[in-house]
Amino acid sequence: MAALLGAAMAAQAQETIKVGLVAPFSGPFADYGKMMEGGIKAYMKDHGDKVAGKKIEVIIKDTTGPVPEVAKRLAQELVVRDKVDFLAGFGLTPEALAAAPVADQAKKPMVIMNAATSVITTKSPYITRVSMTLPQISAPMATWAVKNGVKRVVTLVADYGPGIDAETTFRTNFIGGGGQVLESIRVPLRNPEFAPFVQRIKDAKPEAVFIFLPAGEQAIGFMKAYRERGLADAGIKVIATGDLTDDHVLPAMGDSVNGVITSFHYSAAHKSPENQKFLKSFADTNPNGGRPNFMAAAAYDGMHVIYEVSKKLNGKIDGEKAMAAIKGMKITSPRGPISIDPETRDVVQTVYIRKVEKVGNEFYNVEFDKVADVKDPGK
Ligand code: PHB
Repeated sequence: MAALLGAAMAAQAQETIKVGLVAPFSGPFADYGKMMEGGIKAYMKDHGDKVAGKKIEVIIKDTTGPVPEVAKRLAQELVVRDKVDFLAGFGLTPEALAAAPVADQAKKPMVIMNAATSVITTKSPYITRVSMTLPQISAPMATWAVKNGVKRVVTLVADYGPGIDAETTFRTNFIGGGGQVLESIRVPLRNPEFAPFVQRIKDAKPEAVFIFLPAGEQAIGFMKAYRERGLADAGIKVIATGDLTDDHVLPAMGDSVNGVITSFHYSAAHKSPENQKFLKSFADTNPNGGRPNFMAAAAYDGMHVIYEVSKKLNGKIDGEKAMAAIKGMKITSPRGPISIDPETRDVVQTVYIRKVEKVGNEFYNVEFDKVADVKDPGK
């Protein structure tokens, strides 16, 4: 009887392809998980919940934030107990770095839907990334700024992997183009108190400040301090990676964000049929979800990759074969064309320069310039 039951369960297990989604769903970064889940729901509405005759099952695990031990334990549970075919998600770099050895040892394809420190994909040949890297996004911002007459800046970044990547790449490209970095400030990842840092920026009297902060509440905190300390009045402009003007938070940011220039891979205002379809499916499947952001778009694309691989392998997911199928894959994303670099397994994509402007009654990141086919320059 037990053997029969075991066989029946094994047969049933083979009827599903399991995706373990590891991301924060509670705590200060809870929106990351919700945006990813929302993007996945939108994809599954558009493409059904079956591939190669098998049902796609998504198992959600909440890391609660940048807590490496929890992310590692959850990835282990997904592999050992739930027997997932793919690990996916990873909002924050510390989550991705902690889970990397789990994917590596179990030979499980790990699809990064946000975490954006360059080095992550070098940690295992089973890791791919559909989101972005901070060097990939920051280099075009530096180049645009020097070309457009910005010569003296201060940089301010969150003091961990992606922030340090953003600072380093921005500095190299900005100084290389003839600009001057007056000061480089790093702020804590958790609960930064911006007022003293913003005062330091003001005292340095730059023409602009370059910012990387993890998307979400921190951007509101920074822009509030920027306004209250009179930096706008002093003529100090904000340039940033698009994390600062994250589409999900932008409608709540108020007028001080008007005119901010950012570089990024996804804007909800991107004009394409694929983005129109994505926005509609997201709204249909997430009635109170607000405006989808880059993490929702990357999760939509991450599912696209998982579906394509599953089709190619006829539903039999093997780590090595899955990675071979992922390398060089090209898809049309809501953000534009993307591909997976066969050498690095990192995303290659267009980086847009955008300006926050009112479209109708709401602020959007309006794209006005772009650099096509940008690879991660960090490798
Ligand atoms: C990261 O931790 O890698 C990260 C988090 C939030 C962002 C970008 C990168 O907006």
